[in-house]
Amino acid sequence: MNQALFDYIKASPTAYHAVSHTADILKQSGYTELYEHERWELEDGCGYFVIRNGSSLIAFRTPTDPENMGSFMMTAAHGDSPSFKIKENAELCDGHHLRLSVEKYGGMLCASWTDRPLSVAGRVLVRDRRGLTTGLVDLDDPCAIIPNVAIHMNRGANDGMSYNPAVDMLPLCGEASDAGFLRKEIADELGIREEDILATDLFLYNPQAGVEWSGYISAPRLDDLQCAFTSLTAFLNADTDDLDTSNVPVFCLFDNEEVGSQTKQGAASTFLFDTLLRFGEALGLTQTDLLCKLASSFLVSCDNAHAVHPNHPEYQDKNHAVYMNGGVVVKYNANQRYTTDGVSAAIFGLICERAGVPIQRYANRADMPGGSTLGNIANTRVSLNTIDIGLAQLAMHSAYETAGARDTEMMVRALTAFFQAHIRADGDGAYTLL
Ligand code: CO
Repeated sequence: MNQALFDYIKASPTAYHAVSHTADILKQSGYTELYEHERWELEDGCGYFVIRNGSSLIAFRTPTDPENMGSFMMTAAHGDSPSFKIKENAELCDGHHLRLSVEKYGGMLCASWTDRPLSVAGRVLVRDRRGLTTGLVDLDDPCAIIPNVAIHMNRGANDGMSYNPAVDMLPLCGEASDAGFLRKEIADELGIREEDILATDLFLYNPQAGVEWSGYISAPRLDDLQCAFTSLTAFLNADTDDLDTSNVPVFCLFDNEEVGSQTKQGAASTFLFDTLLRFGEALGLTQTDLLCKLASSFLVSCDNAHAVHPNHPEYQDKNHAVYMNGGVVVKYNANQRYTTDGVSAAIFGLICERAGVPIQRYANRADMPGGSTLGNIANTRVSLNTIDIGLAQLAMHSAYETAGARDTEMMVRALTAFFQAHIRADGDGAYTLL
């Protein structure tokens, strides 16, 4: 299971690649791609997916018997991770060294990006005879490094270092004589002429492979590709047609969580709502039908959580400390940066209890603000019972993160049980769970 996760991470150096790779997996499983610019005609009992901006994807299955359609059982994870975006005028040359002009995408731990081989990946807009097309590139081989300053020149380096992204984080990518390498390599990889590159969205990434060791896994981008992979696996595995009602499983992979989700393809966009609306129309549901279904529907927002740090246990709330390999983490926040509330915790807790998957409950120390995620943002667009969960990990937003080796499988089991569960609203706050 973890090797399959590492393969998924390797194939997903950027959000564009995560979506493209996920689309390939869905196609191999018989799913049909839909396009937002076309009308949708959906057949019963079939799988579909739709992509927006090449970086967000929503997949779903239609019920075998639409007359007995159950509710939407949805998961959401994010495919982007903190990185350095390469600026349009990328190359900086001082006559000796060639560097890349970059800016931060999201909030990474800068120290972890230094002194390690980095590569470049992203999308390229290419001129063709009719207009333009999109290509994906992944240079794969290391082609840049962000070198530290030697301790002899920065004696204070071990006493708390502050990184200026405009100065300290510019990667070295070759000698002066290598000028022009980036566009040339991109053109070579895509088999196009350099002058046909119209625009790019390129990022640095860590190409180091994942490893499993002594009960743990370490890999780049575990936040949030571990949740993307496990929710996708559960979505594909789940048999959602076993009862007389057939659920509509929905898998969402959103871009831009690391920068607040407020984009046309992020969790704050209309993407999920638009997709549900078009699904409903294709099945002949009225808006009221759709709203009735949503009242019995459920969204699981999946994004990794902070495990107790062995050297710094003091950062965790004593009663809400979560550990790697302890099972699925349910996240709570009084200010609703996490969506979990009594109702969603009770419903999801019951599903995990029946599936035999342990859950741990996480809340930040009351004097530490903590992070944010997808669930509460998506909820303002499509409002329904939602829970925030994740797997416990160390070093979140490092270029190389660590999590529990046994948790991957537990998350797949929990989410498979979730997709197979049937929730029916009997009133506000009362539900039948089959
Ligand atoms: Co995350």
